[in-house]
Amino acid sequence: MSAPNKSYDPVEVEALKPEEIERMRDEALAAFAAADSLDALHEAKVAHTGPTSPLALANREIGALPPHAKADAGKRVGMARGAVNKALAARQAELEAERDARVLVEEAVDVTLPYDRVPAGARHPLTTMMERVADVFVAMGYEIAEGPEAEAEWFNFDALNFTPDHPARQMQDTFFVRGPQGDHGESGVVLRTHTSPVQARSLLERKPPVYVVCPGRVYRTDELDATHTPVFHQIELLAVDEGLTMADLKGTLDHMVQSLFGADMKTRLRPNYFPFTEPSAEMDMLCYVCKGASVGNPDRPCRTCSSEGWIELGGCGMVNPRVLIACGVDPEKYSGFAFGFGIERMLMFRHNVEDMRDMVEGDVRFTRPFGMEI
Ligand code: DAH
Repeated sequence: MSAPNKSYDPVEVEALKPEEIERMRDEALAAFAAADSLDALHEAKVAHTGPTSPLALANREIGALPPHAKADAGKRVGMARGAVNKALAARQAELEAERDARVLVEEAVDVTLPYDRVPAGARHPLTTMMERVADVFVAMGYEIAEGPEAEAEWFNFDALNFTPDHPARQMQDTFFVRGPQGDHGESGVVLRTHTSPVQARSLLERKPPVYVVCPGRVYRTDELDATHTPVFHQIELLAVDEGLTMADLKGTLDHMVQSLFGADMKTRLRPNYFPFTEPSAEMDMLCYVCKGASVGNPDRPCRTCSSEGWIELGGCGMVNPRVLIACGVDPEKYSGFAFGFGIERMLMFRHNVEDMRDMVEGDVRFTRPFGMEI
């Protein structure tokens, strides 16, 4: 900026000469008119109205003029800047309107085009049910454990204290995998008849405390009909730790049915026999529909529990010390509880599915009403 100088005439300051100011203004207007995009206009705006633009620099020179010349020069620069700002705003509005119109055309959706008729796939309700149950235990810190579906007979039976002549081993129940001819067809491998072998596998793979939940597919030589299927799903639970008692088992079962069916649910145990638990029990849950109100009350029959008040869920018990020993766990130090139940059955009574075959046929008319979770 020049120093104050009383003898200066504004016309003599180069940057403030009327022709110079006009030239600056015209250059700015031409630059705005030439800008063909909002980006280009922004560049022109910085060049012609920014703090280092010719008009801004000229404006600074005004301060150095003698007082009588300031008004004249100020008016000239002010008018030029006003014209420039006005042209800038007008061009800005013009370019924005052009952009909006273009976006409307470019992003228009043609609602008459044919859509993709192939629906996205979804998980089967059995899968989502199994994951929902497993999640209850994962939330409590249990690990998910898995084992093979073609399983060693030792894991499926022997480790679980099934004696060699136990009826469950016999042909009518178990799919035996045929071995090479030289071994007389005996491979020692079966399609697992339950998820309980994962108990033994988990105990051999980990050191106690062991808290695992094992969802999986199991096989039995049943014909497919309304209430049987040769392939079905179970979920197994095993907890082995110091000082576990039947009270822990009962509390865990109650927590599970409350998480799945509502806060006012509970379970009950009835004595039973399984080779791998001692004592063993059959576990029932309160009927989540009538909550027991249908029992002895012919006016209020319940279809879900056939007015029994309870629904049978599966088997459970305290892990038999023989199983712990077979898996190298000291039964003097550790105890455990286990339970297992079928997922198909749970899906049937939870959603009033009447025919087992619907669950295996994969017809989307059956699966779709369960939701399309992926
Ligand atoms: N594995 C048994 C079955 O398939 C169910 C079962 C019973 C599992 C008792 C257990 C249990 O873990 O403790 O019939």
